[in-house]
Amino acid sequence: MGAQNTFQIFVFMSCIFLIGATSASSLKVGYYKYKKCANAEEIVKGVVSKFVLKEPGLGAGLIRMFFHDCFVRGCDASILLDASTLNPNPEKLAIPNNPSLRGFEVVDAAKSALEYACPGIVSCADIIAFAARDAAGLLGNIPYQIPSGRLDGKISNASEVLPALPAPFHNLTQVKALFAAQGLSATDVVALSGAHSIGRSHCSSFTSRLYPNIDPTMDQGFGASLRTKCPQNAQVDGVVPQDFVTPNALDNQYYKNVADLKALFFSDWSLLTSTETANLLSKFQTVPKLFEAKFAESMVKMGNIGVLTGTKGEIRTSCRAVNSI
Ligand code: HEM
Ligand SMILES: *[C@@H]1O[C@H](CO)[C@@H](O)[C@H](O)[C@H]1NC(C)=O
Ligand SMILES: *[C@@H]1O[C@H](CO)[C@@H](O)[C@H](O)[C@H]1NC(C)=O
Repeated sequence: MGAQNTFQIFVFMSCIFLIGATSASSLKVGYYKYKKCANAEEIVKGVVSKFVLKEPGLGAGLIRMFFHDCFVRGCDASILLDASTLNPNPEKLAIPNNPSLRGFEVVDAAKSALEYACPGIVSCADIIAFAARDAAGLLGNIPYQIPSGRLDGKISNASEVLPALPAPFHNLTQVKALFAAQGLSATDVVALSGAHSIGRSHCSSFTSRLYPNIDPTMDQGFGASLRTKCPQNAQVDGVVPQDFVTPNALDNQYYKNVADLKALFFSDWSLLTSTETANLLSKFQTVPKLFEAKFAESMVKMGNIGVLTGTKGEIRTSCRAVNSI
């Protein structure tokens, strides 16, 4: 009897949870199953796997692309629009994206495969969301479902990028404020920063911590080794891995690196500067499963930012250009 009551309460609570979860956004898991493109997610996954298994860095690029898309005008694929006569200065040309953002060719290949299989059905915004999810599955063994049904936007403006995105020299107050502006919490900041356990950075993103002095918030030996890879006044902007220990694994090594003062950015270090974020950091460091669960949850949450539905967007034919009127 007691057990049955407990069960009924559980079912009741689950229903409340489900209602809450779906009303948070108009997106649906498996959206394209109802839209005559039942294999959409498998098609994207096939393309992403092909590229990422050959070049893991592209997986990092795709996860960062999702972040940079969602933080500017919502997850609307505005990051993908090329410069055109009508719009000479799109988001992708802004400093945080150019020349560092990568993975555009993966999205193009997925879009071609989808247009072949089911023309005009799958949005570029959803392709980015699926591709980032698939990259997390491949590099992190972090599988999760992501709701879809986003439409593509028609506006992309480079001058909106810098004010919306956190910078590597930002302190925790600044990073938290930019996440809060998107409806994301301090937990989301810490969980999503775990993406800095994969991929690379250009030297220019952190050399201010190396010269003239190695930042006291950085391990001095780590700083000395970064100086050899990023010489002062170098002719070319070199690249180094975000995580020197497991560079291609989306894992909790990032949190150990931060605690050891061996992360690249001041913004990474700044996670140690509040009790709330420092506590999360040490939890993610000791319980990898917790990191994986929170990372997935925060990626889904990020995927709900400013999504376009109904008549507010379109499904682009080419991800690089708005449909002509
Ligand atoms: C918390 C504030 C954040 C700051 C200040 C920041 C800043 C940066 C910077 C400066 C780079 C190096 C770019 C370059 O020089 O090549 C980078 C790389 C990267 N970031 Fe972040 N980021 C933040 C949060 C995030 C989030 C939320 C994600 C995704 C969930 C993310 C994913 C990545 C990835 C995967 C890379 C490597 C990209 C590649 O290898 O192509 N970052 N980030
Ligand atoms: C881009 O945004 C800036 C700042 O909000 C604005 O001044 C400019 O007119 C916009 N450019 C386009 C092409 O809409
Ligand atoms: C963070 O940076 C802002 C802008 O430079 C500054 O006003 C603020 O005092 C800083 N906060 C902390 C906690 O260092």
